[in-house]
Amino acid sequence: MESPLSSLDFHAARAMLEWQMELGADEPIGDAPIDRYEVAAEAPRPAAAMPAPLPRSEIDPVEVARIAAGAAGSLEELAGLQSDYPHCDLRKGARNFVFADGNPQARVLILGEAPGRDEDIEGRPFVGRAGQLLDRMFAAIGLARTAHNRDEAIYITNVMPWRPPQNRDPEPAEIAMMLPFVARHVELVNPDIVVLMGNTPCDAALGRRGILRLRGSWAEAFGRPAMPMTHPAYLLRNPAAKREAWADLLAIKSRLEASR
Ligand code: URA
Repeated sequence: MESPLSSLDFHAARAMLEWQMELGADEPIGDAPIDRYEVAAEAPRPAAAMPAPLPRSEIDPVEVARIAAGAAGSLEELAGLQSDYPHCDLRKGARNFVFADGNPQARVLILGEAPGRDEDIEGRPFVGRAGQLLDRMFAAIGLARTAHNRDEAIYITNVMPWRPPQNRDPEPAEIAMMLPFVARHVELVNPDIVVLMGNTPCDAALGRRGILRLRGSWAEAFGRPAMPMTHPAYLLRNPAAKREAWADLLAIKSRLEASR
């Protein structure tokens, strides 16, 4: 029988090997049992051509994330694989892994930036002041994270599942590591519309920052329509910007109605 590993390309096989090493494996062991007494009777053979262990600096964290995310067949599996991902140092300083909230059947997925203090404590996204404003904003167009009906529901997640220290912006390398997980997350939920809430999700999904220019114009992210919006934390500091946010919410509402 052909081993499933023989269908892997070099990079995938190498990344899997590095993953095993990260988990503490220090010795290769074959699939088939070996009779050690039999082997001892034979003449010693030259050592098998096993690649030398890679130094940690040669591990490609994005490739490891891609393989792990691609292996997830459900949201539960994705949450498990992402929370076990060892290469993002933010996990060391965070209290909780913050995966998602809301209805996974929702037609609208909101992608935020990263957990803040309240989310880190509670383990759920958007539960602080900004989150309460977000709930009020979407309630104004008839959508809620608690809704059972997919037409009235939202699903909420973040680019980063761990709180950055002092709420600093996530670094480009940290965003790059999480992007395969975010892409798989969106694929598994399969929403009709993605809302990119602030600069970090625009950076991750569109490769662009400058939310005040991007907001209000439909873009494409993860193969579906995406609306960049100003983050509710920004709206709390700049209430005058709520007028534009309202226009963006109405654009989302009419797009949902047009494709129902
Ligand atoms: N801001 C975000 O972008 N996400 C959260 O979960 C909380 C605040």
